[in-house]
Amino acid sequence: MSALIIEETGWRTRVSKLLGTRFPIILGPMRLITLGAMAAEVANCGGLGVIAASGLSAERLRAEIEIALSQTKGPLAINIPIYRSNALEALEIAIEMGIKTIYTSAGNPANMIKRIRKAGLSMIHKVSNEKTALKAQSAGVDAVVAMGFEAGGHVGREKITTMCLIPRLADILSIPVIAAGGIADARGTAAAFALGADGVEIGTRFVASAECPVPDFFKAAVQSADSEATLLLGKDEMPIRVLKNQVTLEVSKMMDDKADKVMARSGEANYVQDGGDKDTAVMPCGQIAGVVSRSMKIRDIFSEIISESMRVSQRIQQILSLDGQEPK
Ligand SMILES: Cc1cc2nc3c(=O)[nH]c(=O)nc-3n(C[C@H](O)[C@H](O)[C@H](O)COP(=O)(O)O)c2cc1C
Repeated sequence: MSALIIEETGWRTRVSKLLGTRFPIILGPMRLITLGAMAAEVANCGGLGVIAASGLSAERLRAEIEIALSQTKGPLAINIPIYRSNALEALEIAIEMGIKTIYTSAGNPANMIKRIRKAGLSMIHKVSNEKTALKAQSAGVDAVVAMGFEAGGHVGREKITTMCLIPRLADILSIPVIAAGGIADARGTAAAFALGADGVEIGTRFVASAECPVPDFFKAAVQSADSEATLLLGKDEMPIRVLKNQVTLEVSKMMDDKADKVMARSGEANYVQDGGDKDTAVMPCGQIAGVVSRSMKIRDIFSEIISESMRVSQRIQQILSLDGQEPK
């Protein structure tokens, strides 16, 4: 597979234009996982490298941004969950350090947009239903990341899948939609474009990448997962999709209140640094882990998605060509 394909080509959409990327492919923010080095590598491959600010002190956030800036000249974003008490502090750090895109989630984007506009930055916001998508558009964000129910991590209470959420938002919004949830390869990427998205966000597949700083048992669990390997924890208030293992199966059997307390604890637990093992760690993961069977370098994941997309597009053209021939 030629790595050159990502150096010499590009996909032009409203999202690649907005973010200044060669490809409208975004590294899904993951708390204490998508830090400086991983974000830089995605940016070097032509995507948007996202550093998750969640769980980082001001000093650590600065240090991770420094790492990213020292390893890439490509486009970077900082993900800031709005409800967190240090959200404004993280925003000021991002502005001061020259980050061009602010990627907000979990809260009302109207609370931050003035400052982001004043600094001249782009703003994207994560949603999982129509109402919050419309609200984000009214607040003035540049694009939404729309996350379907099959995604890894915290998912929408409304349980809307990517297949249904993306075309609906493409119909009702005028700003671009970035599809997240259930996308791991060229097939999912092409499908997202077919549904009306202008970009894709990938999480689970990048967890299994060579550069991802999670423990090997987590990467191995993603690679051996099938499409039924995940379950939802947490009350209806804050569902989170994780891999089934000893601890999550136990928690899922508890009454909701108790399960929420356990989740609240594990939500703060840092499984990357604190360890745990395949039976005791809580490992957020999407249903699409079923198609992830290898750990690859981020550069090879990009090359594969880009080159395979041409094959997928040829297949679609063949089917839709009306000549009645069986597609290869
Ligand atoms: C291990 C893991 C941790 C995640 N942590 C966060 C997070 O801290 N904040 C966030 O907005 N999304 C988080 N997500 C969701 C991703 O950003 C992304 O939207 C999602 O993984 C896309 O769906 P996919 O898993 O099907 O690729 C996480 C996902 C995974 C798999």
